[in-house]
Amino acid sequence: MTKVLLNNRLTETGLFYKAALIALAVILASVLCAASIYQFRRVDPYVQDVLSLTGDSVQGQIIFQLNCAGCHGVSADGLVGPNLHHVSSRKSPTRIIRQVISGDTPPMPQFQPSSQAMADLLEYLNRL
Ligand code: HEC
Repeated sequence: MTKVLLNNRLTETGLFYKAALIALAVILASVLCAASIYQFRRVDPYVQDVLSLTGDSVQGQIIFQLNCAGCHGVSADGLVGPNLHHVSSRKSPTRIIRQVISGDTPPMPQFQPSSQAMADLLEYLNRL
């Protein structure tokens, strides 16, 4: 009788430790994940550089016509790629920059504009 009780206690304690360990691992993983995302957002030097520059929308329009209009339309009202009017109300500047440079959403290619060219593009997109 005592033995059985003892055994039960042991397994319960074992389970408790296992659950606690798993919970701890999950918490640790999410903290690490959040920290790395935060770090990535804050210190991406390219994004910071672009955001520190003043864009020229006329120049941005030229860059757009040459690189983007084939998919997004001459007036950015959509073709293969989506309509980009009011895109700045849907996406933050950082997300728009990532969209252009990441190549994460094929068929949209990965672009590597200079910081100034990206700032110009951003200014053009902001005015759509
Ligand atoms: C080969 C075709 C193609 C080219 C060239 C292209 N895009 Fe795209 N673009 C797309 C497609 C397709 C999507 C939709 C991607 C998705 O979300 O799945 C997209 C999405 C976007 C978005 C996000 C729109 C939204 O509503 O969330 C932005 C901003 C954008 N493109 C900007 C640009 C800019 C600026 C250029 C030029 C430097 C460019 N694109 C060139 C095809 C293209």
